[in-house]
Amino acid sequence: MNEDGLHYSKHCELQKRDADVTLEQCLKYLKCRNGDCIMDVGAAEGSVTLEVLLPKLPNNFKQLLLCDISPKLLQFAKNRTDDERIDTREMDIASSTIPDEFDQHFDHIFSFFCLNWIGDRTKNVQAFKNIYDMLKPGGDILVTIAIHSPFFDFWENLAKIEKWAPYLKNVTNHISPYQKMHNPAQELRKSLEVIGFVVHVCEKQDNFYTFPSLSHLLEISKAVNPSWEFISQDERNNYFQDYEKEIKNHPKVIFETATKAEGKVRFPYEKLNVCALKPLKAREN
Ligand SMILES: C[S@@+](CC[C@H](N)C(=O)[O-])C[C@H]1O[C@@H](n2cnc3c(N)ncnc32)[C@H](O)[C@@H]1O
Repeated sequence: MNEDGLHYSKHCELQKRDADVTLEQCLKYLKCRNGDCIMDVGAAEGSVTLEVLLPKLPNNFKQLLLCDISPKLLQFAKNRTDDERIDTREMDIASSTIPDEFDQHFDHIFSFFCLNWIGDRTKNVQAFKNIYDMLKPGGDILVTIAIHSPFFDFWENLAKIEKWAPYLKNVTNHISPYQKMHNPAQELRKSLEVIGFVVHVCEKQDNFYTFPSLSHLLEISKAVNPSWEFISQDERNNYFQDYEKEIKNHPKVIFETATKAEGKVRFPYEKLNVCALKPLKAREN
């Protein structure tokens, strides 16, 4: 992931639009009360949490914690607010344990387009177990995960080009494990129920976003990129020339103009929306 918070904050219109629509559709499933403790998993540099989620929360919450694996992105987020109830915490959501102080601590846990970065299915399920453990009984989650996006095709295709292969050799670690499943919504629902969740919504949605131009799509491609940190400054121009070719050749990325250089670009993606509850009483096995 590119850890340049300023760049991400300038090029995350798709993510903000998506979180806004998802919250409008799903907030009704969450039970907000006075003094709630809330976590956003994979909050990055805070745009979605602070600009989209925060205005929709009741303003009498007790704590809003932005967690992410990247300390650099979190530092950017921290500098964006002086609300003492809002804090950041570096954390790998797929790690084998959760911090003791987070055990059954949160009333609501949100996560937007983070868990698709955990490509290993076992680790992905571990992330959901950790989220479950951090919830109070009666707490709930609202999670979106990409199932498939042309980004994954771009990365997989670039990984086949000899000069970029070394930088993308671990790319499957960051490609959604739900991509190759026949029925991802059903598979995830089963895993959530085994963990103990009562699932209100676990549904696949086909979406698209229209970028104003190819250059906008290229900028988000730089923000959301698994090989960014490995590619030297000198090589980046060359890499993104090849990246641009991938975008132009993708059968499902639709260009408004024949030249493809100007004009709008329609970018399709599939995702899972999940709303689920940790029951007040754990199920007896
Ligand atoms: C595409 S960004 C999404 C950011 C924000 N939620 C949004 O919707 O714009 C994915 C974020 O997930 C974080 N991430 C990836 N793997 C993670 C992990 N194992 N634990 C915590 N955060 C992770 C990345 O650092 C990145 O900030």
